[in-house]
Amino acid sequence: MRKLIVPAALSALVAGGLSLAAPKGDAAKGKETFEQCGVCHNVDNDEKKVGPSLKGLFKHAKLKNGKPVTDGNVLELINAGGNGMPSYKDILSDEEKANVIAYLKTV
Ligand code: HEC
Repeated sequence: MRKLIVPAALSALVAGGLSLAAPKGDAAKGKETFEQCGVCHNVDNDEKKVGPSLKGLFKHAKLKNGKPVTDGNVLELINAGGNGMPSYKDILSDEEKANVIAYLKTV
């Protein structure tokens, strides 16, 4: 009996942990959070501001750093910043970052 219970508890833990790591984003809330990114990034035209336009980001084949445009790679970039982009690691919550990524998929 014991042998059966332990794996079930473990897989529940893993599933819970995974959903915490990657909360599902809310694009409408992400739009509000994006206001602070909009200082440096256009989303309604292709013109560069301080940073590159993020219009159609998820339709691009690659990020400027050469990595494919995936949720994970964009999240990594938001956390890391660099080259004039601030690091949002401690500025935004995981939920806010997920919301911003969901929003970026709509522009
Ligand atoms: C102070 C200006 C500034 C702010 C604010 C800013 N960024 Fe940036 N961002 C940049 C710059 C500059 C780059 C280009 C970095 C490079 O060339 O490596 C960049 C690059 C990016 C990229 C990569 C684009 C690509 O095609 O590779 C993404 C995605 C991005 N920013 C998202 C965001 C998000 C989301 C926010 C808000 C949470 C934000 N940025 C806020 C300046 C900014």
